[in-house]
Amino acid sequence: MRARVLMATLALAVTVGWAGPQEHATSDDTDLRAALRTTSAAGSVHLRAAIPPLANSGGVRPPDCDVKRCVALTYDDGPGLPTPRLLDILAARHAPATFFLVGEMVRLRPDTALRTARAGHEIGVHTWNHSDLTTLSERQIESQLKRTFDIIRRVTGVRSTLMRPPYGATNRLVRRVAGRLGLAEILWDVDTADWRDRNASLVASRAVRRARRDSIILMHDIRPTTVDAAARIIRGLRARGFTLVTVSELLGNPKPGVSYYRTGAQVVIK
Ligand code: NI
Repeated sequence: MRARVLMATLALAVTVGWAGPQEHATSDDTDLRAALRTTSAAGSVHLRAAIPPLANSGGVRPPDCDVKRCVALTYDDGPGLPTPRLLDILAARHAPATFFLVGEMVRLRPDTALRTARAGHEIGVHTWNHSDLTTLSERQIESQLKRTFDIIRRVTGVRSTLMRPPYGATNRLVRRVAGRLGLAEILWDVDTADWRDRNASLVASRAVRRARRDSIILMHDIRPTTVDAAARIIRGLRARGFTLVTVSELLGNPKPGVSYYRTGAQVVIK
C-alpha cells in the first residue's frame, strides 16, 4: 500500500505540479483521497490506489492490486467462434478476463455470451456493430452503447459498467454519453496487434514481455491464433509474478464517463 500511495502521489505531483510529493507518502491516505477527488473532477487524473477493489462475481475475495502485481487480459469483438475454446483454457487455469462484446455478435451467439458471464468474467460494451464512435452523432453514439448494454443484460443478466470504443477512437462527446449510461471507458497500454499478426507465438510473447504492473492487455477472441496463445500468456504472466484480474478489479472502482489507460507508472484518465 505504501508503495502504491507513493506512486500515486508522484503521479499527482506530475499532473498538478506539486513540488513536494513526499509529504503525502504516508499510510494515511485521507489527503490523497481528497486530492484524487479534486483532480478526478477536473478530469486530469484518476488513481485507484486509495479505492478498494470491487467484489467479483465468483464470491471469492478479489485480489488486492495494491499489494499484488495485477494485470488484466481483455478480449474484444466477440463472442466469436473461437471464444468457447478460450473459455475452456481460462477455466482450466482459473484465469479471469474481461470481454468487450459487440451487440450484434451477442445476438448471433447468446449462448457463448451467457457462458462467458457465468464463468465469472467481466463483460463490457464494445458497441452494436463496431462503429467508429467519433464519426457518429450523439444520438447514434447513445444507440450504439445502449443497444449493446441492453442485449448483454437481457442475455446474461449482467449490467455492464465498462465500455471500450472500437479502434480506441474516442472524444469528449463519446465519454459524456458513456458517462450518462453509467459506463467507464477502458483503453489499454499493451497492444498485441493480434488482429494483424495472426501468429500465436508472436502474440504470446508481446503480451508477456510488454506487460507491466496494472497493464491492460488488448486482444481479440475472434482470432483462433489469439486463443492458441492464451495458455502461454497465462503461464508467462504468472511466471513473471503477475496476478490476473478483471478490469474492474484492476481499477478498483472505475467511474462512468472517465477514460482509463495506463501510462508511465499509473493508470490515468483523460
Ligand atoms: Ni474491436
